[in-house]
Amino acid sequence: MAVIRSVIRGVGAYLPKRVMTNDDLARLVDTSDAWIRERTGIEQRHIAEEGEYTSDLGVAASRQALVRAGIDPIDIDLVVCATATPDRTFPATAVRIQSDLGVTKGAAFDVQAVCSGFVYALAIADNFLKTGQFKRAIVVGAETFSRILDWEDRGTCVLFGDGAGAVVLEAQTQLGSREDRGILATRIRSDGRFEELLYVDGGPGSTKTTGHLRMNGREVFRHAVQKISGVIEETLVMTGYAPDEIDLYVPHQANKRILDGIAKRLGIPQEKVVLTLAKHGNTSAASIPLALNQAFEDHRLQEGRLVLMEAMGGGFTWGAALARW
Ligand code: UT7
Repeated sequence: MAVIRSVIRGVGAYLPKRVMTNDDLARLVDTSDAWIRERTGIEQRHIAEEGEYTSDLGVAASRQALVRAGIDPIDIDLVVCATATPDRTFPATAVRIQSDLGVTKGAAFDVQAVCSGFVYALAIADNFLKTGQFKRAIVVGAETFSRILDWEDRGTCVLFGDGAGAVVLEAQTQLGSREDRGILATRIRSDGRFEELLYVDGGPGSTKTTGHLRMNGREVFRHAVQKISGVIEETLVMTGYAPDEIDLYVPHQANKRILDGIAKRLGIPQEKVVLTLAKHGNTSAASIPLALNQAFEDHRLQEGRLVLMEAMGGGFTWGAALARW
């Protein structure tokens, strides 16, 4: 039976020019390049300039995705931006991105699911496209986490960086088989009982300040492998695919040890894993589209490839998406 699928037509990304290496960080806090590399796999991160906002990063990534998709901004009718670091408390960063791109139709809004934001945003856009309410969407993950870090807390400031990535989705009629192109399944989860393990200690409705990121890294780590593996397994069951049929595994880039643990548990070989965190650290909602972009530029993302994405973040929130490129 014919169905509407959200086909990924283009991908783009943007990283701010300024690079901060592990050695640069070792001059700020009691840490070392060796510790950061061994415990996380991170070598450097990009930091936005003063006056360079989340929306600017998102616009740059979206423009590249639109060019690669060969789609004019006037034909876009949905902009969803996943971010935990919006330019302003309101309006949504997505509406700034919408206007900067010259998109005038449809709707634009932000999604707040922290590091799982891109998977959430993809799931939301996919559902709107499948119902026929919108035809072409930009899904952006854009963050400037450098602005919510406590630069004296070595347990967190070494982990995160700024960046953005975007995909352009188009509703297309497909056969309704698991060989279809487009997003085949999404699965999102949350459990607010874990809020205190990863949060920001401020906000407009409480402290009236932005606050700083706080994390119990060891506990987050402990939950990550189990929760992410679970949601991936559910996604595979929904589509009838086995782990060894996945062509490319594009995880949220938080910690190499977490990714290795999940890949091992699912039996996904290293050569199928897209690993980019060495170059930009954890960019929260931007990390999956940044990794997709890298895979595209390395010619690993070719039409027909089965791509598995997953993430977990503050909340906790977590989720997975399976798509055929
Ligand atoms: O994207 C959102 C989800 N977030 C994550 O997935 C993050 C998950 N957690 C992690 O990635 C890891 O837990 C961390 C990288 C944050 C920490 O690694 P760990 O192996 O869990 O280290 P730990 O927190 O158990 O700390 C081990 C030691 C401690 O010292 P003591 O108490 O053993 O003396 C820390 O104080 O390492 C110390 N430490 C550091 N040392 C040098 C913590 N941060 C640093 C640092 N440099 N930057």
